[in-house]
Amino acid sequence: MKQTGLILQTGTDYLDKVTLKTSELRLLASGDGIEIMTHELEKGITFDIYPDEANPSLMEFFYIIEGELEYLTKDSKEFIKLTKGDYFYTKELKEPCVFRTLSKTKLLYISSQPIFHYIGESYAKLHLINEEITKKDPYTKGHSERVQDLSVKIGVEMGLSRDRIAKLAIAALFHDLGKIFISDDILGKPYKLTSDEYEIVKHHPIESAKYVNAIKYIDVGDIVLQHHERLDGSGYPYGLKGDEICLEARIIAVADTFDAMTSDRAYRNRLSKEQAIQEIVSLAGKLYDKDVVDAFLRVINNE
Ligand SMILES: [Fe+2]
Ligand SMILES: [Fe+2]
Repeated sequence: MKQTGLILQTGTDYLDKVTLKTSELRLLASGDGIEIMTHELEKGITFDIYPDEANPSLMEFFYIIEGELEYLTKDSKEFIKLTKGDYFYTKELKEPCVFRTLSKTKLLYISSQPIFHYIGESYAKLHLINEEITKKDPYTKGHSERVQDLSVKIGVEMGLSRDRIAKLAIAALFHDLGKIFISDDILGKPYKLTSDEYEIVKHHPIESAKYVNAIKYIDVGDIVLQHHERLDGSGYPYGLKGDEICLEARIIAVADTFDAMTSDRAYRNRLSKEQAIQEIVSLAGKLYDKDVVDAFLRVINNE
């Protein structure tokens, strides 16, 4: 959360929304991994609540603010009617539940884990920019997804809280958005950059941070801004050192470097996984956080 302390809002305020043809989901508040939303649905809409295998402990709570809906029982023989003031929630759900609205309905929706960013509109816009970058530089195809996957695994291995893991996942996915401003010539250049060109490249974390700062409900700007900073101060854009670099950025630094080393780039061929691991291990404590590198090694060895 960017705002802290008491936050007062009017009934029409929200942090982000998703508008679909027959329903609208608004995120009202988020913090400590919990999200509070409203879900408005037109009459006659069928909707399901699915088990989430990745988050088995997920709880989802729904309170009917307005309207009526019915729940289709497991044997599909009976409909149970629910109306204003009624509520239902799921815990360790094993099979999908099916509901249908009998009138225009408004639900208060509380999720015990962050889920809104999968569908939020601002998130969708950032996804589009990621796709644009892949078009500019085909060598980076799948890079942000792989960096996200590896960063989250390292974060889990290091025992980060689910709130920090959610932030890490978003930051890792969007860490290179600022590359959209780097010209195709520089991005695809098959030989060493001039110092002027390198200055332009060094600016991309600042632009990436501006993009993620547009997501109003989650604060990942610093993580993105610092993903090229290195422990000894040799990184960019600010030459931060050691603990000045947040842990999440130190995690992405390792995942990002590993993926870059093991993929072909315009200016060089890929290294083998073993060579890349060796290189990262040799720089642990100098450029990369030693604890992060240790967790990275455990993750890689498990796979
Ligand atoms: Fe980057
Ligand atoms: Fe990257």
